[in-house]
Amino acid sequence: MDESAMSSICKPYFPQPELAGKILRRAAKAFLYALLILSTAVFLYFFRSTKTIPAITLIASGDLPSPTNLSHIIFAIGGSTKTWQRRREYCELWWKPGKMRGHVWLDVAPTEWPDTCPPWRVSKPAAKQAARIARIAAEEYGMRVEGVRWFVMGDDDTIFFPENMAAVLEKYDHEEMYYVGAASESVEQDEKHSYGMAYGGGGFAVSYPAAAALAGGIDGCLRRYDRLYGSDQRVHACFSEIGVPLTREPGFHQVDLRGDIYGLLAAHPIAPLLSLHHLNYVPPISPLFHSQLKALRSLINATRADQPRALQQSFCYLHDGRLNWSISVSWGYTAQIYPWLLSPTELEVPIRTFRTWKTSDIRHFTFNTRELAVPSRPCERPLRYFLEAVEEAKEGTVTEYRRHGWGDEGKEKCGKLGFEAMGAVKKVRVTASRMDPMLWRKAPRRQCCGAKKNDKNIIDVHVRDCRPGEITSPI
Ligand SMILES: *[C@@H]1O[C@H](CO)[C@@H](O)[C@H](O)[C@H]1NC(C)=O
Ligand SMILES: *[C@@H]1O[C@H](CO)[C@@H](O)[C@H](O)[C@H]1NC(C)=O
Ligand SMILES: *[C@@H]1O[C@H](CO)[C@@H](O)[C@H](O)[C@H]1NC(C)=O
Repeated sequence: MDESAMSSICKPYFPQPELAGKILRRAAKAFLYALLILSTAVFLYFFRSTKTIPAITLIASGDLPSPTNLSHIIFAIGGSTKTWQRRREYCELWWKPGKMRGHVWLDVAPTEWPDTCPPWRVSKPAAKQAARIARIAAEEYGMRVEGVRWFVMGDDDTIFFPENMAAVLEKYDHEEMYYVGAASESVEQDEKHSYGMAYGGGGFAVSYPAAAALAGGIDGCLRRYDRLYGSDQRVHACFSEIGVPLTREPGFHQVDLRGDIYGLLAAHPIAPLLSLHHLNYVPPISPLFHSQLKALRSLINATRADQPRALQQSFCYLHDGRLNWSISVSWGYTAQIYPWLLSPTELEVPIRTFRTWKTSDIRHFTFNTRELAVPSRPCERPLRYFLEAVEEAKEGTVTEYRRHGWGDEGKEKCGKLGFEAMGAVKKVRVTASRMDPMLWRKAPRRQCCGAKKNDKNIIDVHVRDCRPGEITSPI
């Protein structure tokens, strides 16, 4: 700062008589020094803080990485040429040619290949199939494809929900080492293998730097862990050596379950649906279809209209004259009506329609379950409805669910008043806005709904954001 300029500004305030002038000049000097020190301090303060500013300016100028989308993901599917013909139908359900990147890694070159599936590659031979498949993340990494942030691994009988996958991975910094997946639903499996392992059939995601570390270590890991059973165990063992733990995402589903997985799909956690597996071991997910593929297509049809909302539950209550009904919707799949009041804390618990994988046990799952009343207690069973139509409207979707029994009904029918009224309801129709995938970056929250019965005995449900302060309470 220029002192003379300063003093000239100050001059008018200082008259010039001899002594008083001297004192005043000193005072003025002291004042100017003080000003100088102050201005230096102010300058230094701003100079210092400019050092911390760049991160903020970068966000503003868009220099931070763009949001993760499908184009940043490579899908790597472990397959074998022998089983491919039977398994290809699964990948045809979710793979979008030209819009996604990835490969099916085979043991030997196939003679023909459909363009409805990811292109094939032959992976490096290994003495054991599990070791060959454990290596495919590393092989995919080794191809050094441009602009990759995540490698998503799966089996040839895994179904993925790709837009949801991108929305979930968007939450994580792809420049850090991440290993994202989920454990098995059966306690026996987790106790035998690990609770901290991403089960390979449910699929898992590995960030670019994590794949780099895995690629560097995999050959050694495969030698050291040759005694292990699966490819996913080998990958997990290697990540344990790297020191990267499993980041759990509840939307991955290994489906280590036997029997009907209806209960699980009707009460999905409040998280995006990412994968389903083992569907060739369980009956069709919807009894409206005789084949599993057709049943799955119906769910996939719904996810085409609104993937982020797939299987999201909402609960509403209908007070109709003397009757009180509880309604649960699992969007794109099923609705349930109970002619009595059931709180969210019960409705969000899967009805136990399935058993554990190995021992067919009905108790040891990694989540709570509730009992479905036996057929001889028909007054304690809800009515259920399955997706039969999806319509895309301007603002959102209209999905219709048709009534279907539990498949094991006895001769007894519930004679209670509420059941008779409910029995007349043949259809549930759900309207909902299209869900923004970016909503999944926020803290998860179940959406609210309202229901009314129209004169054609259709229950109309409208799913919407909860209002400020709104809670879902039966009374
Ligand atoms: C995905 O992100 C890339 C930038 O990384 C962008 O160029 C591309 O348009 C995005 N794709 C979609 C479908 O949003
Ligand atoms: C899925 O949608 C297509 C048309 O979009 C339709 O032809 C087909 O019947 C639907 N499938 C099921 C199982 O709902
Ligand atoms: C229905 O709920 C209301 C409270 O909303 C309650 O007063 C009434 O007794 C209930 N009726 C039956 C039949 O449970």
